[in-house]
Parts: sequence; C-alpha cells; structure tokens
Amino acid sequence: MIGGSGLYALLEGATEFTVDTPYGPPSDPITIAEVGDRTVAFLPRHGRDHRYPPHRIPYRANLWALRSLGVRQVLAPCAVGGLRPELGPGTFVIPDQLVDRTSGRAQTYYDQGAVHISFADPYCPVGRETVRGAAERHEIAAVPTGTMVVVEGPRFSTRAESRWFTAIGGTVVNMTGHPEAVLARELALCYTAIALVTDLDAGVEGDHGVTQEEVFRVFRENTARLRGLLMDVIAALPTDRACPCGAALDGIELPFALP
Ligand code: ADE
Repeated sequence: MIGGSGLYALLEGATEFTVDTPYGPPSDPITIAEVGDRTVAFLPRHGRDHRYPPHRIPYRANLWALRSLGVRQVLAPCAVGGLRPELGPGTFVIPDQLVDRTSGRAQTYYDQGAVHISFADPYCPVGRETVRGAAERHEIAAVPTGTMVVVEGPRFSTRAESRWFTAIGGTVVNMTGHPEAVLARELALCYTAIALVTDLDAGVEGDHGVTQEEVFRVFRENTARLRGLLMDVIAALPTDRACPCGAALDGIELPFALP
C-alpha cells in the first residue's frame, strides 16, 4: 500500500524496515504487518512528515523497495480533483486509464536495452474489480472507471488547462499517479489506484479554484471511510494473481535481475 496525502500510517503493530535501493532510499521506512491472513507493507508516498512534494517523490526507489520486500500487488490511494461537476468531494473513483502530463520525472528502470512494456491498460483489472466489490459492500457509490490526468505540479492547473483535461476525456486530475503506475508495471507488479476526490478542479463550471487547504481537509475528513475500504480490499484481494500484470516482462530480455 502506498498512502497518499493524509494517509501517513495504516498498520497497527507493524515492524519497520529501512530499505536502500539502486535509486536511493524510498520516501520513508516501510512498515509491515499481518492484516488477517495477508502480509501488508505500507509506505507513505510523501514521507510521514510529507517532506516530498509530488514532483520530488523517489518513485523508482519506492516501487523497487516494495518489490524487494516481497510485494507483488500495490494499492495506491490518492487525492484527486474532479473534472466533472457530478464528481464532488468525497467521491471515490477507480481509474482504468491515465494521461501523463508530467515532465522531467524519471519514469523508467530501463535506460539500456530494448525493454518496451505494454501499458495500454495501466491498472490491474483484478485489483480494480476487488475495489469495486469492496466499495459496494461498504455502500460507497464508487465510480468504476475513469481517466486520471496526472500533472507535474506542484501548482494546481489553470482553468483553461482544467477545461482541456475534461475535453480530452479526463475524469479526475492528480500529481502522483505517474510514473508510479508505469514503474509498477515495469516491475511486473499489480497496481490499482483508488482515487478520492477532494475538490472540483479549476475548470469545472462555478468552481472557485482549488486550494491546498481544501485538498488536505477533505482527505482528512474521509480517512476513516478510506481506511475501512482499504482493509476490506486487502482481505478480498486474490492471492493467485489471475491478471496479466505478473507477465508484463515475459519474453523480454532484462538488463538486470529484478529484486
Ligand atoms: N490533488 C487533489 N486535487 C487536485 C487537483 N485539483 N489537481 C491536481 N492534483 C490534485
């Protein structure tokens, strides 16, 4: 689990692991605990004191460190802005697509050799279906599909940018969904984003424009709902990985061994 803004700890009675990677240390030590019959690792994406802004997060180190500890399925809750008026604060969206509008972030492990992974469907279909089912059990009306536009930040978007994201089919917008998703795929990990709308983005008609205060407040207000949902998802996630994610690198000659 990679926790976003406002979700800096999740597990009780956890053991803390300080990990190093060829890409430097991850955002924070990783905590591991048993949740029911599952072993869960938790990493706060921004660091527990939120020291890393979205464009400075050590994404490569984070995914590498998780895999090196045995993680194979990643759940990625995150705060997002809604790009449509019906997607108000508190709405959960389970994205099935993303549009990368970031720039200058290291977004691959493969700077040598011919390693071109498929990314047509960036999220794990089984993970998404598991989140959908858990939301239904929690009587949360989660939106089952959506396109997440990922901007470089750390500023929010202008009204024109935001209207453009809606016009090209965007559902929600955030600053951390990429390159996290592609790096997970490059390590053959399952990756499922769970997007919590904290605000309506600046281009949505009648909106006042986003503020940081609003994003953090709404995320805080919804943390209990999110935690309940995540615990149910952890219990319900199948262990057998009957999805294509684990085969993402099959037939490709890798320049190094995965951790
Ligand atoms: N994260 C939460 N709300 C956001 C917004 N409106 N734009 C970008 N990232 C966000």
